[in-house]
Amino acid sequence: MFETLTKAPQDKIFALMAEIAADDRPGKIDLGVGVYKDDEGDTPVMSAVKKAEERMLATARTKTYIGVAGNKAFCNAMVDLALAGAAPADRVRAVQAPGGTGALWIVLTLLKRARPDATVWISDPSWPNHKPMAEQAGFRVEAYPYFDPATRSVRFEQMLAKLDTLGPDDIVLLHGCCHNPTGANLTPAQWDEVVASLSRTGAFPLVDLAYQGFGDGLEEDAYGARAVARAIPEFVLATSCSKNFGIYRERAGCAIVAGKNATAADIANSQMLNIVRGAYSQPPDHGAEIVRTILEDKELRAEWQAELEAMRQRMVANRQALADAIRARSNSSDFDFVAEHRGMFSLLGLGVETVNELKAQNAVYMLDDSRINIAGLADERIQRLADAIVGATR
Ligand SMILES: Cc1ncc(COP(=O)(O)O)c(C=O)c1O
Repeated sequence: MFETLTKAPQDKIFALMAEIAADDRPGKIDLGVGVYKDDEGDTPVMSAVKKAEERMLATARTKTYIGVAGNKAFCNAMVDLALAGAAPADRVRAVQAPGGTGALWIVLTLLKRARPDATVWISDPSWPNHKPMAEQAGFRVEAYPYFDPATRSVRFEQMLAKLDTLGPDDIVLLHGCCHNPTGANLTPAQWDEVVASLSRTGAFPLVDLAYQGFGDGLEEDAYGARAVARAIPEFVLATSCSKNFGIYRERAGCAIVAGKNATAADIANSQMLNIVRGAYSQPPDHGAEIVRTILEDKELRAEWQAELEAMRQRMVANRQALADAIRARSNSSDFDFVAEHRGMFSLLGLGVETVNELKAQNAVYMLDDSRINIAGLADERIQRLADAIVGATR
């Protein structure tokens, strides 16, 4: 049977994790995998999550099947969290998904059924899983201009010029906030222009919102998704609870679709249910029930928001500290962009030789494209990282 196959490529992040684990130099700095870390380098369970789990344990009465759409109260809460009424409820449907990746898979499969000959447009660069996922769904994938390595910011003019050439057979995948891998994001005014372009051309928006609350705040980070929802009658949105609830391994996310009327929304929803039923029947409940418990309870919700805000502020502070530390050593503003970026990631714009040199000389690990994860950098590590970066880029 399997002689017909060749080995599939290994995901680069998992390969890097293995490389880091094999390095026994003390003080190695891991800027690789995309999880939030505290000063000790741990990814702790949020206290609101622990409390929700305690309540669940005390009150759970059954583990019977939840249904193909999953936890409906969770889905409603996720739609509210992302869209806050920006699209009328009678046109919006949602299905619980195993993580943001699962949500992306559901909406891509839905779009393939709806528009089999469409092209999916992703940002250049994008999260490394976007292209293979869209290809696996059967789409042709192209890239629109996004990141300018010279300024380390969004090349907005070029992005918009490309989007203006698209049409109804094009699906535009947009990062809702905290762009992965670059850290460079659209401003609200730029989102408005993107939405106006999509309205003009009829190109179809797919918004990937995996980091709500990690950038500028829970409401601020939803600006783009809500601008799309207000102006464009049909769109899809994939959300994730992995990062903002810190429940990575529980696999909770939500596939959200808006149709131009209730009938269209119902049809799209029935297709999503059909897709789920034919793949894994129903999603796991535990993570979704944690999120539902938190979002529906005033006190737990406030506690979660405060914890999330503390994480966000810590990442912003780490950014400023790293930019300041590099500036102090290099006497140049070359890395000031790190403080402007938002979310967990920044693309440093280093060549692969420099990335390898940092690994070999300083035990500093980042992805080959020079993406770093800014979370988990305690002060002493920020200073050593600044030394290493300035040393390697002199
Ligand atoms: C841009 C983007 N989208 C979606 C996801 C999916 O996250 P998960 O499937 O872990 O919820 C990630 C995770 O790294 C991401 O960076």
